[in-house]
Amino acid sequence: MATSIERAARLTAFAKINLGLRVLRRREDGYHELRTVFQTISLADRLDLAFTPGRTTSIEVLGTPHIPDNLAGRAARLVLEKFGKSGRVQINLDKKTPTGAGLGGGSSDAAAVLLALPVLAGIRASIDQLAELGASLGSDVPFFLYGGTALGLGRGEELYPLPDQPARPLLLITPTIHSSTAEAYRDLSATLANSGDTKVAAFQRAAWSRNLSPIVNDFEPVVFRRHPELAAIRKRLLSLGAVESAMSGSGSSVFGLFDSTSDLRKAQSAWDRRATPAAPAHAVSFVSGPKFRSVWRRALNEHRSNDDQLWPPQSRHAR
Ligand code: C5P
Repeated sequence: MATSIERAARLTAFAKINLGLRVLRRREDGYHELRTVFQTISLADRLDLAFTPGRTTSIEVLGTPHIPDNLAGRAARLVLEKFGKSGRVQINLDKKTPTGAGLGGGSSDAAAVLLALPVLAGIRASIDQLAELGASLGSDVPFFLYGGTALGLGRGEELYPLPDQPARPLLLITPTIHSSTAEAYRDLSATLANSGDTKVAAFQRAAWSRNLSPIVNDFEPVVFRRHPELAAIRKRLLSLGAVESAMSGSGSSVFGLFDSTSDLRKAQSAWDRRATPAAPAHAVSFVSGPKFRSVWRRALNEHRSNDDQLWPPQSRHAR
């Protein structure tokens, strides 16, 4: 039940795709050194987040489907512990982004909590503090604190902004296959030779070309071996007129980029005619950095300070 001191916001947690993903080598800490371009897309989860100050902390994550040890709940606990606050956190999750799909759904939910909870709870948090908390939750959580188009280095947590990509129509296929990231890295690790320099050179070439072409994802050979139907999806997207098609992250989703929305619509209706419920198609678009931030500012409007230059948004409840 709403009380007078409850503060609440409805949040949009955008998904991402990787416009190329090169895995260079296994590092001493067990993670892999990578080069990738992250891009937020219009597919998104909705989170209703509420905070009520109190002496004790309780964190409740509701919504479908139930995910044990949800990353969003862990993010809330980290924020309150780090900044010494207590109270009741309720998170209601309306999931649209499938998990195990390489779309960063869980990571984006966690980042949404990192961005919004401090604003609701009257905490002053810097982007560095949030990024550190984010990286401890997962390698691609920090990206969702910025959104737009970004170059990801290291294990994906070291980020640099890239110019906004032209808004390209995108058909995203989300097979019901759950692809495990840790398993994909294990499979790939066994095949990594001394090809890091060649990969960096090719990645650089793609990044300098205006449309990041060709898009290469090093996970494709190993994940396609486990799930040959994903290779077939990529092939079909190309035959339906996609100018580029690639898997996102460690799978299982596969996207196709089109030159125009009419090309995309034609491909989508062809896909839907032979659709299988196990691989639905979503017409989505890129979400630019400025768009990402304006959606966030609007969502937090009544609780944040009015300075639009500030990122992350700062709380007007902070003393
Ligand atoms: O960081 P995150 O929890 O998302 O990673 C899941 C798993 O994927 C890690 O436990 C690790 O095995 C693997 N990983 C990796 N190199 C990366 C990112 C993830 O080996 N750059």
